[in-house]
Amino acid sequence: MSVWKEVCAVGDLEDNAVTEHEVGGVKVAVTRAGEEYFVYPLFCPHMDEPLSNGFCDGATVTCSFHMWQWDMRTGETTGEAEVDLLRYPVKVEAGVLHADFETVLAYED
Ligand code: FES
Repeated sequence: MSVWKEVCAVGDLEDNAVTEHEVGGVKVAVTRAGEEYFVYPLFCPHMDEPLSNGFCDGATVTCSFHMWQWDMRTGETTGEAEVDLLRYPVKVEAGVLHADFETVLAYED
């Protein structure tokens, strides 16, 4: 069963930025690429650097620590990342971005 929770107003999000949010005690990062929105675990799957310290170019996000990079549309690496990025299902209703927290996403150690 889906567990949709409000993340933020889409009007608060800018292109080419990674922002940090806490939703029900879960820390997530959010990226906007035009009218596409991506919500994913805040901490890098490599060595836990907050991805809000990273860079965003369109739908490509880069961790600032060792430059692992992903295509947010697929979660797949576009560089040397050894782990794909996990992403939450999202939807926009009445100008508010929601993510489905039915499963809190976490990387295996
Ligand atoms: S901590 Fe993100 S690439 Fe190493």
